[in-house]
Amino acid sequence: MAATNAYAITDHTFDVVVVGAGGAGLRATMGAAQAGLRTACITKVFPTRSHTVAAQGGISASLGNMGEDDWRWHMYDTVKGADWLGDQDAIEYLCKEAPAAVYELEHFGVPFSRTEDGKIYQRAFGGMTSNYGEGIVQRTCAAADRTGHAMLHTLYGQSLRYDALFFIEFFVLDLIMEDGVCRGVMAWNLDDGTIHRFRGQKTILATGGYGRAYFSCTSAHTCTGDGNGMVLRAGLPLQDMEFVQFHPTGIYGAGMLITEGARGEGGYLVNSEGERFMERYAPSAKDLASRDVVSRSMTMEIREGRGVGPEKDHLYLHLDHLDPDVVAERLPGISESARIFAGVDVSKEPIPVLPTVHYNMGGIPTNHHGEMIIRDGDDPDKLVPGLMAIGEAASVSVHGANRLGSNSLIDLVVFGRAAALRCAETLEADAKQPDLPTDAGDDCLARLDRFRHAKGDIPTAELRLRMQRVMQNNCAVFRTGEILAEGKDLIAEVYDAMPDIAVSDRSMIWNSDLVETYEFDNLIRQSIVTMNAAANRTESRGAHAREDYPDRDDKNWMKHSLAWVDEAGLVRLDDRPVHAYTLTDEISYIEPKKRVY
Ligand code: FUM
Repeated sequence: MAATNAYAITDHTFDVVVVGAGGAGLRATMGAAQAGLRTACITKVFPTRSHTVAAQGGISASLGNMGEDDWRWHMYDTVKGADWLGDQDAIEYLCKEAPAAVYELEHFGVPFSRTEDGKIYQRAFGGMTSNYGEGIVQRTCAAADRTGHAMLHTLYGQSLRYDALFFIEFFVLDLIMEDGVCRGVMAWNLDDGTIHRFRGQKTILATGGYGRAYFSCTSAHTCTGDGNGMVLRAGLPLQDMEFVQFHPTGIYGAGMLITEGARGEGGYLVNSEGERFMERYAPSAKDLASRDVVSRSMTMEIREGRGVGPEKDHLYLHLDHLDPDVVAERLPGISESARIFAGVDVSKEPIPVLPTVHYNMGGIPTNHHGEMIIRDGDDPDKLVPGLMAIGEAASVSVHGANRLGSNSLIDLVVFGRAAALRCAETLEADAKQPDLPTDAGDDCLARLDRFRHAKGDIPTAELRLRMQRVMQNNCAVFRTGEILAEGKDLIAEVYDAMPDIAVSDRSMIWNSDLVETYEFDNLIRQSIVTMNAAANRTESRGAHAREDYPDRDDKNWMKHSLAWVDEAGLVRLDDRPVHAYTLTDEISYIEPKKRVY
């Protein structure tokens, strides 16, 4: 019997199929259902366990609750933070829509921290300035240091008010593509082992980032970029994958996040000489320079022998000078994390910290409606019909080469809503959809069967660890052509070992061995394109710091990179122009200049 006949398939038809139930997926699900579209939300974890729950410091919006602010200043900071690789039409949309999106969350019930006069509390975050770079602005709206937790729970509660159907603990295996059109997805119900085929007029990938390609990251174990993996397997490209953000303050040895909000509340970094070294690297913004700048400065301090600890391989973050009441009220979560993961009482001792992988600026290329776009000859923005992406899975691209802290949560809700609005605008509810081809999903099931019965010698966990070490060593904060060339070979070796993968559990119910194998397959493809795109980009921009090409090169490299990988592991690279225009005449294109903090 053919492998594919061995699995009974349950068919579903929806107008909109959302994959992922983090902040972006929930906001899109809610919006599409609210518009009367038959909407499914498929998620591999219970919605409130999605990684948005871990976001700490806050969500940016120019509310001006703590002093004057303006969405244009927010836009300027975002363009500059992105090192001019962001699409300015999308950035304009993000920053202009941000205040309304935060008030919407407030009305939904997000328990924001408050000022004395009852307004939403806002804190300072890296790279957020007033009057086009003049001073520091408090723009990051916070629910203590558990903002993502508050948002995710509220959004899930709100989305249950509408008529969306949730398929919880379903693992999406692959896209169903027909003649270049996305027709839906294949999914596996982890709980009862059944296979499901979802047909949709639109499929929205809200599957998050792929931090777990690295050995040390702040991301949950579930952050395996599954949507990105599906896109690559469908023969489509990912964009700007070389831009991987290191958060300056992961707890040394554990990777757990210590929010940038800690520095926003007055915390500061010191080296082994007790020096506040950020004053040297960023005299104006100091510890609140953008993340790429702080992470590079920390790496330089360690390299030059001024790290702390027996190995001189990390630095200290001081909060012990702050008012204990402020810490208790505004930073309770990280005080607990520091105690549990570093054994530190933040009121008495500094926290040992190290730059740690935190966010992927790259992902599925989209326009500001969330529709996937690819370059096709002279058309740089050709739509991939039926396919959309939002949140960290997408490269819309508002973060360009480097994301500012607190611009991620706002990206989730602004573009989650935008995608839902686009569906409402372009789809007819319950419209008749063409039948799927009779063999739709056969390739996917053949692959499932191959992995499920894999009898090789190398357990998935071992290959995954090899991949994570290669990414950590060869695609780090600083890169050189030589190290990246070695990285390309080493990561190809890991991929080439996949035919020898060993899966020991053959069941279909809660088979975590098989889930992890799928996740690894998604991660390794993303690792290959990340390494290759990084080797290809011979300049330094944002989070991509090439020691052999230390300068930004706008003449040759102000363009998005696109990367495909085929089943043999061979990479093809191309590029797309950056959108050097705005959507309205309320602000004009912000000309590139050297970034100084
Ligand atoms: O530092 C933080 O709280 C992280 C925020 C973010 O990545 O946006």
